[in-house]
Amino acid sequence: MAEIKLQDIEKYFGDNYVIRKLNLTIENKEFVVLLGPSGCGKTTTLRAIAGLEEIDSGDILIDGKPVQDLRAGDRDIAFVFQLFALYPHLTAYDNIAFPLRATRESKASVDEKVRAVARALQIEDLLSRRPSALSGGDMQRVAIGRALVRRPKAMLMDEPIGALDAKLREEMRTELKRLHLENDQTTVYVTHDQVEAMSLADRIAIMNEGVLQQVGTPSEVYDNPANLFVAQFVGSPVMNITPANLQSADGATKVAVGQDGVAFDFPSAIEPQLSGAHSDLMLGVRPEGVLLAHNKTAGHVAVEAHIIEPLGAYDIVDLKIGNAFLRARTASGFVDRPGDMVWARIDPAQTHFFNSLSGDAIHVRLDE
Ligand SMILES: Nc1ncnc2c1ncn2[C@@H]1O[C@H](COP(=O)(O)OP(=O)(O)O)[C@@H](O)[C@H]1O
Ligand SMILES: [Mg+2]
Repeated sequence: MAEIKLQDIEKYFGDNYVIRKLNLTIENKEFVVLLGPSGCGKTTTLRAIAGLEEIDSGDILIDGKPVQDLRAGDRDIAFVFQLFALYPHLTAYDNIAFPLRATRESKASVDEKVRAVARALQIEDLLSRRPSALSGGDMQRVAIGRALVRRPKAMLMDEPIGALDAKLREEMRTELKRLHLENDQTTVYVTHDQVEAMSLADRIAIMNEGVLQQVGTPSEVYDNPANLFVAQFVGSPVMNITPANLQSADGATKVAVGQDGVAFDFPSAIEPQLSGAHSDLMLGVRPEGVLLAHNKTAGHVAVEAHIIEPLGAYDIVDLKIGNAFLRARTASGFVDRPGDMVWARIDPAQTHFFNSLSGDAIHVRLDE
């Protein structure tokens, strides 16, 4: 068990400034997901923790002790890669047992550990097979088993299920979660898939271009994204983002969206809080925060349904709002056909505001 602390980590590959002053603490037993687009520095960060990559400055501490001078093999950390990297000539059993062979453990003790891990991963009946006779998911179970069998201080996983097909990925996600609940092992897990991050993480650390954007629980980053990047990276279907203008007339507060300004009602409490952003205001609202009615309703604006995407459990309806589009999530079949007029409002409680220049969220309270 271990706490991993990253302090002011910097890493260059030549001129490429890949990790930019990264500060992050992974608590003992915590499952932290590093989430970000391809090339943002996730793998490099993980490799630095493992000791497979040298850093240019900063400190990596495990349980309070700096580990830069420790070789990878002495850090007691296990690493699971996206590609299975099993020994093809060894059975699943021997692949899992491999890390224990060097430790001069008794055969009985090795056997006990291999079988315990295999039981947890539900691959007991596959132990005699070679990798070529295993499915992709089972190969990755074996790879995870090999990492777990030593009971390392911490587990690092780099897109461990990224190469699997969608259905298997979903299954493995559930299993990884269960495994973590059973084993309580400090885990740093890398993915570019926000659904995976949301479903697995105790906390998500979101990176972009080597810069840590936000760290928080899945609901914190979903409900209170720190900036435009996080707002658009987390959540599916993605949050609507549109330029916005604050309008105030006859004591009523409205926010106009898009370029030619169809305006929606908002509580007047937002006015003083947004006055600093002036013309640099962006509004963000997830599709579930765009509320529709069939008939003319107070506080709603008449809009045209442009495209309807039926997704089974619900529909996503593209609304034409002047020159802008907003996507709304509705009950399936709520809007009959494209071109229909409906009545829309934006739920102020589900609205986010951003400064378009900095990209930073402007935290607005509705009850002030
Ligand atoms: N060994 C390397 N040599 C040179 N550049 C590298 C090396 N490894 C990664 N990079 C670069 O560092 C950046 C971050 O890469 P990486 O950590 O692999 O990102 P991610 O895992 O988030 O996709 C990328 O621009 C990548 O091209
Ligand atoms: Mg990577």
